[in-house]
Parts: sequence; structure tokens; C-alpha cells
Amino acid sequence: MCAEFKEFSEKDKINPPKEFVEKANLKSYDEYKKMYEDSVKNREDFWARMAEEKVDWFKKWDKVNEEDLSKGEINWFVNGKLNVSYNCLDRHLKTHRRNKAAIIWEGDEGESKTYTYQQLHQEVCKFANVLKAQGVKKGDRVAIYLPMVPELPVAMLACARIGAIHSIIFAGFSPDSIKDRVLDCEAKVIITSDESVRGGKIVPLKDNVDKAAENLDVVEKIIVLERTSGDINMKEGRDVWWHEEMKKADDKCEPEEMDAEDPLFILYTSGSTGKPKGVLHTTGGYLLYTQMTTEYIFDIKDDDVYWCTADIGWITGHSYIVYGPLASGATTLVFEGVPTYPEPDRFWQVVEKYKVNIFYTAPTALRALKKAGDEWIENRDLSSLRLLGTVGEPINPEVWSWYHYVIGQEKCPIVDTWWQTETGGILISPIPGAIPTKPGYATVPFFGVEPLILKDENNECDTNETGFLVINKSWPSMLRGVYGDHERFMNTYLKAFPGYYMTGDGAFVDEDGYVRLTGRIDDVINVSGHRMGTAEVESALVEHDAVVEAAVVGVPHDVKGEGIYAYCILSEGYDKSGDLKKDLINHVRDSIGPIAKPEDIHFVDGLPKTRSGKIMRRILRKVAEGETDKSKLGDTTTLAEPEVVDHIIDTKGKF
Ligand code: WT7
Repeated sequence: MCAEFKEFSEKDKINPPKEFVEKANLKSYDEYKKMYEDSVKNREDFWARMAEEKVDWFKKWDKVNEEDLSKGEINWFVNGKLNVSYNCLDRHLKTHRRNKAAIIWEGDEGESKTYTYQQLHQEVCKFANVLKAQGVKKGDRVAIYLPMVPELPVAMLACARIGAIHSIIFAGFSPDSIKDRVLDCEAKVIITSDESVRGGKIVPLKDNVDKAAENLDVVEKIIVLERTSGDINMKEGRDVWWHEEMKKADDKCEPEEMDAEDPLFILYTSGSTGKPKGVLHTTGGYLLYTQMTTEYIFDIKDDDVYWCTADIGWITGHSYIVYGPLASGATTLVFEGVPTYPEPDRFWQVVEKYKVNIFYTAPTALRALKKAGDEWIENRDLSSLRLLGTVGEPINPEVWSWYHYVIGQEKCPIVDTWWQTETGGILISPIPGAIPTKPGYATVPFFGVEPLILKDENNECDTNETGFLVINKSWPSMLRGVYGDHERFMNTYLKAFPGYYMTGDGAFVDEDGYVRLTGRIDDVINVSGHRMGTAEVESALVEHDAVVEAAVVGVPHDVKGEGIYAYCILSEGYDKSGDLKKDLINHVRDSIGPIAKPEDIHFVDGLPKTRSGKIMRRILRKVAEGETDKSKLGDTTTLAEPEVVDHIIDTKGKF
């Protein structure tokens, strides 16, 4: 179907198609450059102008920005007052958007539902009243563990409306993971559904919540949405049905006046050490930044149908399914299913059904769909597409080319957007009408963002030299902290390079000034675009009686990007066996969730450690990748017991 499928060389620059540029918000590199320079030179004026233009404020701010990164203090739009749900809903009701589709929902089996801005507003107001009736007040934390149903954005916006702080837990997480998160932020209410359906499979969400909430005194109420009508337990006095409470609720609810720096949500993410951290985002800066990036990077027009395939349980869904698009008055598609169910053309069928114009997904999904074969695309009409995006991990140039030719038919720019849970919004990405793209490159910083590549504390890298990607100064949607742990916030992000935010990623800048990400520089594994901490998987493994010590590394995986590979030392009395391996794999899945499932377990009698006891993961990574030549493992002379390396090579692939 693609006449000429040319593999791009990494030096190729691809200009945005002419027809795209004609209608684009920003049409040339010079225009971008001028605006970018203004944004960094006249930082406060720039953001003041944007905040005035894009956001509706109840009260204007006194000062645009005040910060001291050495203390971890970051304030944007000081003393400004606003409400996020007002900006996502109420203000559109006074315009031509009142009866426009805000959310189009596509269910797992092809069911469909649409909410106009007016209808969504009404649902949100009612649910906000339900929350109030359950005792939720401004500043309270509400945990949300829901599938991809319209009620999920309703619940988020209802929290925002009354000033409650939501903490969404991805509906693939296990009871233990729910418990950790609920406890850490002391959520007094959990919102869930009876069950979820995804790819034809049922997941017992309420059951998982029941297990998590056992003996958890903080949880006062559980609100249960009926999704499947499956059989569940309702605990008298604690559990209430969503639909029953909604029947009693009034549909008027004034939005709470929030300070620009009041928390909007907490979202847990994995790091190199310990348990997941509660990344805290606040109100004004986050809203402005997600709205602006949606408008510039996705070039949204009023009649576009925009589809981001992420799950709302991750930051991508928060910022680019819900807050950014709705603040922009866009039509956003919420998809409950998976790319390959019932068949590998599910995404393209949805694109065809709703005539999707802007499509934003992850490299892992693209790799899986490319692998499934182009015959799944040939009979689908993808002519509505005009812009494609990717996020979550580096995209291989071959997959980029396939996306460009086969899916985009050479007429859609591709925006490779780099960002993180902590950054709240996209920091590095092409602006589609203005920036020529290059396969594998996230290209240029967004307005107001100043990335640097450092060799060490005092030196910047040269062109094409890989180093630590850091950001100079804050930007409006930067995390404001780690919930309840200021020290961890400082240590993780602000101490390594004083004055800068440390991203944890490696990158280089080429001769065109384009940024290319090279992957994490810490012990974080990127599985299908989701972050997994090695420490988390290791602690799940050692929880099992059979394991005394574990070391986990990432290995290249052709669909997931990286897979989890675990080395385990067994306790006395346990024998290495295929059955035990299966047991351990299942144990990790049950204790964290399916995304944490190891690809392989490698039983060993020892681990390569330095004399100070630090595990040399570099060696473990290479052996996991299949390296058997000891001389290619790098320097092993600093190991306490160098012979461990031979043992590890010899035992690979046994069992
Ligand atoms: C990590 C953040 C926020 C998006 C979803 C993941 C990697 C993200 C890209 C990209 C190369 C990328 C980084 C980053 N990453 N986007 N376009 N190119 N790598 O959010 O779970 O917070 O993970 O994902 O390594 O640090 P997250």
C-alpha cells in the first residue's frame, strides 16, 4: 500500500507536509525560534501573556513566578485563583462549544457513548455533590481505581471542582499496590467499579479494592460504579453505588476557588529506589501548560477528533486525554480496549469509525501493530488522520518510518514527545507545522523550557556527546514535590545538579540542535512505555520464601522495548526448577501487577558485587542480553569475587 517505503537515515530531516503547514498554528522554524527566544529571555512576561490568553482566572496573580530550586520551592502565578473544572467545562458552555462532543467513549466491545460539554458539566456537578455528600472536602485525597470509562474523567473533574486531590491508581495494579498508594496519601474515599473489561477479559476491580482496604482505617467510603453487573460484595456503611448516589444528587455545584498552587492531583511513579513516589502537581501552572502544549503540539482545531490511546491511570492520560484537551475545548476520545482485540486492526477500526484526525500512541503499540502485518491496515480508511504522535520511550527509526509511510501515508507530521510524570506536560517535541522532524529525535524544547546536557556538575557535553539531560529553572507544570517527603523530592531531582531539575534520562544534541533521548541513566526499566523500578521488583521477589536475594535488570524486548530479567539467589531448601521459576514470575505479577511480570528468572549462587557491596548491574545487563564473552563485559577487576561472572555466564538459560 505504500508505494515507496524508504528507510530514513538518522540524518534525514523531513519537512512538514505543505497541506499541514497551511493550516498550522505555527508555520515556520523562524516563528518557533522567535517565540522560543522570547519565552526564555522574557520568561515572566511570556508566561503572563499566555496565562492571560489561555486560562480563565477568578483572580489574577500577584507575581508570575517565584522559585528557589536549592530549597525545592516553586511557585507559579502567586495568589492567582482559578478552578480547573471551570476551565475544562463551564467556560465552554458560553461558547459555540456548548453542544460539541467533549468525550467520545468507545467501549471494549464497540459500545459507544458521547458526552457534550454541557452533558459532561452536568455529570461532573452531580458527582461533585456526591463526593460532598460522602464527606469529601477541599484538600482531602480521593483514590480512583477505575477502568477507561467516561466516569473516570467525571470523577477527576468532580474532585477538581470541589478542591479534592485525586490520586488515580492504574486499574492493572494489584491489591498490594493499591494499598501502598492509598496509605501513603491517606485517601479517605476510593472510587472503583465492580469489574473492568479489557480485551475481552474481566478484572475484579472491587475485589482488589476490598483486599487492599482490609484493615485500612483511613478509608471511610468506597463508591462503586456498575460496569459489568458482576457479582461483588458491598460492605454495609462503607460501600455505596455510584448510580444510586447520582440519583439523589443536585446538578448544581459552584466551582471552589482554588489557589494556583493548591494541589490538583498526586500520581505515583517508580524510581530507582524504594516504593513509588507520589508526584504532586498543582493547579494553575499545570492547567496552563497542558492546555498550551495541547494546542501547539497537537495543533488542535475545533472540528478535530483527537485520540490519545494511553490509559488515564498514567500521566499521559491525565494531561493529554483529560486536562489539556478539555481545557482546549477539544473532542477527546476515551478508549476502553486494547490495540489487538478482537483483532490487530482495532486501533484503525476506531480511527475509521470516528474519523480521528490526531492520533497519539506509544512505540510499544506501534511495534506490536507493525509486527501483526500491514494486511490489517489495507482495508481501513485512515484518510482522516493529519497528525501522529508518540510518547513513552525512544522510537526506533524503522518503526518511525512505518508510522510515517504506512499509517500517515506521508501526509502526517510525527511528533515524538518527550516528557515524564514529573514534568506534567511535554517538554521536548516538534511543533508540527514549524519543526522538520528526524526519526528518533524528540527535536526541540517547548516554549520556556531550557534543557542542557551535562557531563558533570560543571561541564556541558559537546555536540553529539551523550550526557545527563537536565532542565534549567522550573516550568509551570513541574512537579511541586513528592507527597509527604520533601527530602526525597530534593534528593531525587534537585540535589545531583544544583540549580537544575535532573530528569534521569541520557540524551545528546546533534549539529541541528535537535535532542535525541538515549534512555534512562538510573535503575529504572521502561516496560512498554511504563516505568518500573528495579528495587520494587526485587523487593517483591525477596518477599517470596524461596528467594534470599534478587537483582533485576532490563533487557531489550522487540515489542515492549524493555523486559524485566531477574537474577535470584535461592534460600536453603529450595531447588532450582522450572516450576519454581513460574511460581516466582506469578508472584511478582500478583504482588505488583501484570506490567511487572519478569520475562525470565535466572537462578544464581552469587551476584557480581563491588568490594563495597554494590551490585554491578552493567554486567548483569550484558549477560541477560546474551553476552557470553567475558572480555566484552567491561572492567571486572573491582569485583569482590570476579569468579561470580563465569558462574553467571554458565548458568544462563538453565531451566
Ligand atoms: C520516561 C518517563 C510522560 C510520558 C509517559 C511516560 C521515557 C518518555 C519519551 C520519548 C524517549 C521517552 C523517558 C522518561 N520517555 N517519552 N518521546 N522518547 N523516551 O511517563 O512513566 O513518567 O516515564 O519515559 O525515559 O524519563 P513516565
